[in-house]
Amino acid sequence: MAVGHNVLVLLLAVICCVGECKKRNVLLVIADDAGFETSVYNNTVVRTPHLAALGRRSLVFQNAFTSVSSCSPSRSTILTGLPQHQNGMYGLHQGVHHFNSFDGVQSLPLLLGQANIRTGIIGKKHVGPGPVYPFDFAYTEENNSVLQVGRNITRIKLLVRKFFQTQRKEEEERPFFLYVAFHDTHRCGHSQPQYGAFCEKFGNGQRGMGRIPDWKPEYYTPDQVKVPHFVPDTPVARADLAAQYTTVSRLDQGIGLVLAELREAGYENDTLVIYSSDNGIPFPNGRTNLYGSGTAEPMLVSSPEHRERWGGTSQAYVSLLDITPTLLDWFSIPYPSYCLPGTPTTPVSLTGRSLLPALVSEPSPAAWHTVYASQSLHEVTMYYPIRSIHQGAYRLLHNLHYRMPFPIDQDFYVSPTFQDLLNNTLAERPTGWFKTLQQYYYRDRWELFDLRSDPEETVNLAGDPALAPVLESLRHRLLKWQWETGDPWVCGPDAVLEDKLEPHCRPLYNGV
Ligand SMILES: *[C@@H]1O[C@H](CO)[C@@H](O)[C@H](O)[C@H]1NC(C)=O
Ligand SMILES: *[C@@H]1O[C@H](CO)[C@@H](O)[C@H](O)[C@H]1NC(C)=O
Ligand SMILES: *[C@@H]1O[C@H](CO)[C@@H](O)[C@H](O)[C@H]1NC(C)=O
Ligand SMILES: *[C@@H]1O[C@H](CO)[C@@H](O)[C@H](O)[C@H]1NC(C)=O
Ligand SMILES: *[C@@H]1O[C@H](CO)[C@@H](O)[C@H](O)[C@H]1NC(C)=O
Repeated sequence: MAVGHNVLVLLLAVICCVGECKKRNVLLVIADDAGFETSVYNNTVVRTPHLAALGRRSLVFQNAFTSVSSCSPSRSTILTGLPQHQNGMYGLHQGVHHFNSFDGVQSLPLLLGQANIRTGIIGKKHVGPGPVYPFDFAYTEENNSVLQVGRNITRIKLLVRKFFQTQRKEEEERPFFLYVAFHDTHRCGHSQPQYGAFCEKFGNGQRGMGRIPDWKPEYYTPDQVKVPHFVPDTPVARADLAAQYTTVSRLDQGIGLVLAELREAGYENDTLVIYSSDNGIPFPNGRTNLYGSGTAEPMLVSSPEHRERWGGTSQAYVSLLDITPTLLDWFSIPYPSYCLPGTPTTPVSLTGRSLLPALVSEPSPAAWHTVYASQSLHEVTMYYPIRSIHQGAYRLLHNLHYRMPFPIDQDFYVSPTFQDLLNNTLAERPTGWFKTLQQYYYRDRWELFDLRSDPEETVNLAGDPALAPVLESLRHRLLKWQWETGDPWVCGPDAVLEDKLEPHCRPLYNGV
């Protein structure tokens, strides 16, 4: 956290309150499995006028990353500022997966509530336990259909309106934090296949699909779509992407409705608006991977108090771990001192930083050039711990259990793109993909990529003697971050963590 800046903001807040106290609110919009399929990031095919309008009022980050490529873990990091291995949400929350954050975690909604800020959530929550993530106003999958609160943009619009109406009724109007978590553009094939691979037919007015009054579906043909480098270029994958694009149009129009409600309720000029997504798109090498294709995220930050860089772009490396420090900075709330199981004797500290200074001027590249990531599971059966660091031109991944095949999730398994890849591989036909399934399943323990010469991450340089010092330095920094964040996996896979008295790694002599 930029401490100096915090103090300044706190000071300003105090000064302002002597005269007229300026209200500050937050609207956080998180899409589900969404990527760069928007004109804001120069996709010239998909039509996203509402995101484009928000982009003109935002600083657009070109190097924003999630710290974990899985839904519940990512949402837990957004709402705590702590990586999954530190807050305890190692995998998915729902059903048999059953993951939760530690009871003692001081989450963003908890801290904001204690600071007398009204909290609301509409859409996909997917984190727990309840007392760690309390919201004053909640319409989520916990007591509603996730299709209604997460994809029916008319319903979402009405819920946002209800939030603002009840906000107005409050005697002493409190500042608010409203978190709108769309379920678009998540896949649908595993849960509601009748609506299409991306639920792109849900509410489109066709027979049996119902109607979402505010949605005007946009359709695309397979030959139109832009195939990302990590998606196989086949007719099946193109049709899959075209369906995804249609769902993007529902997300975009939904964002337009939410922003219109904000404007009509009169909060546009005192609300910080952040738009991002939880993890990579649900295609091979995307979601559940810590490669760039699984971790790069759209990130728009729109502050009515920082208009200097509206419509501009930033190269600064930023993380979803920065969202909690940014909001605490915006509201001038200090982070409390407390401990968690991973570091029982050292108080928890946030390793992210407030993004507000970047809204004023581009940060020095030397200072904002490192992001970390940490994955343990997705579904409960998908144990595949990875730790990674991305610094400057290099990304280093540590695949702790590299001798196991990389696991595949249920939702992705049934997707047309993956079925096509399996079929083509089995039949020894060309797959149209940039790697083989064998390579995808079996990875090296260390993977090092030079993103200047190899942005698609195809050549592992970990064994290159010329890069040995780079590898060593990255490994050292990654380990340092793991110790700082109380990572229980810090000694794996060739040692055991002994944490009585002085925590240290004791060797296993297991040959890895
Ligand atoms: C989009 O392209 C323009 C022109 O090449 C470039 O200046 C801008 O930075 C790009 N925006 C993003 C978000 O990549
Ligand atoms: C939905 O459930 C949440 C948490 O269980 C609760 O706080 C909220 O009041 C409920 N909302 C409605 C509308 O029932
Ligand atoms: C979406 O929500 C609106 C408002 O609640 C409702 O009238 C409409 O039937 C819903 N559409 C679908 C497809 O469920
Ligand atoms: C918000 O600020 C803009 C520019 O200063 C101004 O034109 C607009 O009227 C303001 N809106 C409200 C609701 O105060
Ligand atoms: C894959 O092969 C199976 C069995 O032949 C077939 O039923 C299925 O339609 C194929 N899927 C794709 C996406 O080609």
